[in-house]
Amino acid sequence: METRVYDLKTEYEAGLAHAVRVILSGGVVAFPTETVYGLAANAFDMAAVRRIFEIKGRPADNPLIVHLSGTEDIPLAAKEVPPLARRLFAKFSPGPFTGVLNKQPCIPDIVSAGLPTVGIRIPANEYARELIRRAGVPIAAPSANLSGRPSPTTAEHCIRDLFGKVPVILDGGACSVGVESTVALITGEYPVILRPGGVTREMLALEAGRAEIASGVTEGLSSGEVAASPGMKYRHYSPNADVYIVEGDINTIANKLRTMYDNDIMSGLKPLILCSYDMSLKMEGRAVRTLGRDADEIAKSLFSELRRVDETGYDKVYFEAQPVLGLGLAVMNRAIRAAGFKTI
Ligand code: TXA
Ligand code: MG
Repeated sequence: METRVYDLKTEYEAGLAHAVRVILSGGVVAFPTETVYGLAANAFDMAAVRRIFEIKGRPADNPLIVHLSGTEDIPLAAKEVPPLARRLFAKFSPGPFTGVLNKQPCIPDIVSAGLPTVGIRIPANEYARELIRRAGVPIAAPSANLSGRPSPTTAEHCIRDLFGKVPVILDGGACSVGVESTVALITGEYPVILRPGGVTREMLALEAGRAEIASGVTEGLSSGEVAASPGMKYRHYSPNADVYIVEGDINTIANKLRTMYDNDIMSGLKPLILCSYDMSLKMEGRAVRTLGRDADEIAKSLFSELRRVDETGYDKVYFEAQPVLGLGLAVMNRAIRAAGFKTI
């Protein structure tokens, strides 16, 4: 298949028009959002949604988020919108927030992977919202990576994973948040975070009085435990290199990193340290990629840096554990999956 990449800064009208044509004729396109790039299809078109699963190699039991252009469309996808849901959508939409509600029967089961609920999100990215508005249908969209790979935060990442597999990739530049939306069950009295993301636990708690975190978010599920969010049970975001999360206070982490790195070098391996700016200053002369100065910066660069690990051929990656505050919770949720839950 021929893939056309449109730079939305210079080819806005042509790019959107082509993408809308593809979506309305049952095809799939890659598009930018403020969190990560998505792979879009008409949510009402079962064959088109099936294509998304095929292209990504995604397990059929992992539901897709339905994207809308405004809160007024929520009743198209959600059977009822309880007071908490109304309040959280009003506060955090458009934005990196996905509310899980009971679904309308018109949303096909393939979208929700057979669940009675559906995740609903209104992206803040203007290109994304305009695409949805012009398509005039709810858009089912997962992240635009091949299943198991880090999510794409630039059009180049989409090109790597999807060139020849989709007719259109819309290039809207680098994603401003860099990790996916917060997925929260909002049918009850308090939100329950199924996947931490761009809207932090602290923000949700401030608005709702309390926010819970489902089990399996920062640690592995114990065997037999059912994942509240099916996506949480899969190994994900992984480079080919072995990733380890290195925990402790700053000096403990610094000592562990230096020791393990130096031992690897002596064994002829090629290790890499992924860490904050402050930690990088303590790693004198070792191979380091600095992710940023704070959780927001680290979130923005995380997936790009995980992708770069493979391009540069490192054997082992040591990832400095981050405090699980603010976007740090989303960062650690992704990092621990990239590491296959290996911590040191
Ligand atoms: O930021 C985002 O959310 C991006 C952009 C493109 O909007 N999308 C995204 O979609 O990350 P995806 O499919 O890669 O991740 C969706 C996550 C999965 O972990 C899935 O299991 C969970 O949301 N999810 C979707 N619908 C759900 C539901 N009804 N109940 C529980 N979890 C759900
Ligand atoms: Mg994904």
